[in-house]
Amino acid sequence: MKRLLSGIKPTGELHIGHYIGAIKHFIEMQKDYESFVFVADLHSLTINPDPKELRNNIKEMLGLYLACGLDPKHTTIFNQSENIYHPALSWALTCHSYMGELNRMTQYKDKSLGQKNESINSGLFTYPVLMAADILIYDADVVPVGDDQKQHVELTRTLAERFNNRYGTTFKVPIPVIAKQGARIMDLQDPTKKMSKTDDNQKGVINLLDDLVVARKKIMSAVTDSDNIIKYDIINKPGISNLITIYSCLTNKDIKTIEEEFKNSNYGEFKTKVANEVIKLLEYIQNKYNEIIKTDYIDNILDKGLKKVEEISKNKMLEVYKKLGLGRY
Ligand code: TRP
Repeated sequence: MKRLLSGIKPTGELHIGHYIGAIKHFIEMQKDYESFVFVADLHSLTINPDPKELRNNIKEMLGLYLACGLDPKHTTIFNQSENIYHPALSWALTCHSYMGELNRMTQYKDKSLGQKNESINSGLFTYPVLMAADILIYDADVVPVGDDQKQHVELTRTLAERFNNRYGTTFKVPIPVIAKQGARIMDLQDPTKKMSKTDDNQKGVINLLDDLVVARKKIMSAVTDSDNIIKYDIINKPGISNLITIYSCLTNKDIKTIEEEFKNSNYGEFKTKVANEVIKLLEYIQNKYNEIIKTDYIDNILDKGLKKVEEISKNKMLEVYKKLGLGRY
C-alpha cells in the first residue's frame, strides 16, 4: 500500500477552508493509503505563538481531526514535535539545500515582505526544509496539500533527488496531490484572498467550532455582487464562485448542476442553502468533537501513533547518518 502524509500548522482555529481543502481529502484517501497525518506544531514556531495558546490549538486540532473523520484504523495521527527525528533529518537536509532555492519560495517571500532582515525569524526561511524532512522520513508516496504548499513539496522532490544522486537511493521522491476543486476556499468578506486562520477579520472565516448562529450569519453576509445570477465566474464574480465551490464540495454536486438548480433563485435563497449545508457539517463535527475532548481518547491515539512513527523514522535516520558518515554507524 502506498503511503500518504500530510499535516497542518496549529497556528489558529481550523476553518472550513482546511476541511474542504485538506482534511476532507485525507479522509477520502485514508482507506486507499497507509496514511500519516500530523499536527505541524514545530512549524508554528516561526510566528512565535503564545505557549498556552499553542498547547490549546494542538489539542483542538487533534480533536477536530478525529471528529471530522480521520480514523486511527487507517491513519496514524501524531504531533510533529514528539518525534525527535524530524528536526534531526531537517538539519541533515538543511546542509544539502541552498540559500538561493530557499530564497525563491513564494511563501517565504510573502511572509518576509516589508520586514527587515534583522527581524525575520530564520525558521521562516528554513521552514520548507523541515517540511521536506517530515515527508522524506516516512518515504511518503503522496502528499495532499493546498496549492500554496505545492512549491514546498517540489523542493522536497529536489532535495530527495539531490541526496539520492549523491549518496545512493535513500528517499522516495514524493508526489504532491492538489485537489482540483476546493483547494482554495476564499475569505467571505474579501473573496480575492484565501480564507486564513490568522486573519484579523473573523467575519470572513468559518471556523469548524464556530457557534452555529454566528456561522450562518457569516454565510448570509458574504460579499457577492449585484447581478443576482448564480454563475461560476472567478474573475468577475469571486464571491458567488466561492459560495458555489463551498456548496459543491459539501454536497458533491458539480458546478453545472448547481447553476442549473439555482437558475431561478436569488442570492438570499442560494446563501440559505449554502448555510444549511455548512451548519449540517459543523453540527456533525462539533457533536463528535465535544464527545472526544472529554475523554483520554486523544492521548491514547497519540501514544500509539508516536510508537509507530518513531520506529519508522529512526530507521530512516540511521540510514541517512550512515550514508553521511556521521557518528559511529
Ligand atoms: N506547511 C504546511 C502548512 O502550512 C504544514 C506542513 C508541515 C506539511 N509539514 C508538512 C504539510 C508536510 C504536508 C507535508 O499547513
